[in-house]
Amino acid sequence: MGDNVVLVGFMGAGKSSVGRLLARRMGRCFVETDDMITAREGRSIPEIFAERGEAHFRALEEETVRLLALKSGVVIATGGGLYCREGRPEVLRAIGTVVWLTGTFDVLYERARRMGERPMLAGRTRDEVAALHHAREAYYRRADLTVDTTGRNTDQVVGAVLLALRPHPSHAEGSQ
Ligand code: S3P
Repeated sequence: MGDNVVLVGFMGAGKSSVGRLLARRMGRCFVETDDMITAREGRSIPEIFAERGEAHFRALEEETVRLLALKSGVVIATGGGLYCREGRPEVLRAIGTVVWLTGTFDVLYERARRMGERPMLAGRTRDEVAALHHAREAYYRRADLTVDTTGRNTDQVVGAVLLALRPHPSHAEGSQ
């Protein structure tokens, strides 16, 4: 398995802010799949959705996943939908340890609505977004580790991720 840390989870889970701080604490580089896409395309995610549509964005994500396989020792924050395609959990778990940042739908939804422009929320009712969240959970559940963000600030979530990443003593080499 690759030695990257891959953060997955729904919009509003805090993947970017947690990833940035986690990378700093671990002394590693930080990479965001959405940034890789905007850098390659020369336009923002909302622009890509508006001008080329969601299908094109998903194709760019596919390309990005291939590039991620070349990374080593980095912390990666993924876009909320990137992990939720057939075969993705397997591919990403081969790249590194996949950590699902989870939380209650209400909190994730409010956070996602407040912060940033998110094309997947535009034109969708709350119930439709809840259905999307529900459908995606089947994928997120296939992460290696799950860390609950409920009631925790970024610093506390990073602490919980670091703890979860620590090798379990009974799995350590040479332990009895
Ligand atoms: C998406 C989530 C976004 C971004 C794009 C699509 C999704 O990232 O990749 O707008 O399908 O959930 P965040 O999870 O960082 O908001």
